[in-house]
Amino acid sequence: MKKKNFQVAIDSPAASGAGTQAKLISRHYNLFYLDTGKLYRILGKNYIKNNKKIDYKNFKEIILKTKINDLKKKNLLKNEIGLAAAYLAKIKRIRNFVNMYQKKIANNPPKKFKGVCFDGRDITYNIMPKADIKFFMTADVSIRAKRRYKELKSQGYKITFNDILVSIKERDKSDFKRKISPLKKTKDAILIDSSKLSINECFKKMKFFINKKYKSYEKN
Ligand code: C5P
Repeated sequence: MKKKNFQVAIDSPAASGAGTQAKLISRHYNLFYLDTGKLYRILGKNYIKNNKKIDYKNFKEIILKTKINDLKKKNLLKNEIGLAAAYLAKIKRIRNFVNMYQKKIANNPPKKFKGVCFDGRDITYNIMPKADIKFFMTADVSIRAKRRYKELKSQGYKITFNDILVSIKERDKSDFKRKISPLKKTKDAILIDSSKLSINECFKKMKFFINKKYKSYEKN
């Protein structure tokens, strides 16, 4: 019998460190990693390029053609692309096909993996409502801004800390308050506050919770 697909779902506000942890978790447990925000960012980039015009047909084609390597492009991290992504992510018609793409992978990852680990805003209750383990990661907004500022600075972007802080606050507002698929902590998600934790400390903590579930997965 085919072994069950082990699913780790992480939701978090912008720049909480969820991507870093999701990558570490995926590597450690041999799970397929998907940074779902990048799907919205790819659309955001296209939206800016096309003078802020929404073309649903084109957007859908872009998503369906997206390969995992396309999501690794560094320029997708840009501030204005994040804001455009958050704007487009509020539109139901867009979410429908982005969700379709995600659910297909979540339920049927490439064979060499034992399962999946996704991070985003609606993973715990929309994309993987039956995930084996769910996390809600967060951190103080100024700490999140500091981390993102450092990251973008190191990639050579000319930005100020204040620009980043303002845009993260704007995205928080948009992501938590929107009507469709708002960011929220579900009751069954474990809260991880990474404000005072190093990358390693945070990983250790998450591993502690995952191991409990993973042991029974390995037995079956
Ligand atoms: O995670 P990241 O900051 O790259 O996401 C960019 C934007 O995409 C978020 O601010 C959010 O509005 C949207 N998003 C979403 N649902 C997801 C992932 C991201 O609405 N699952």
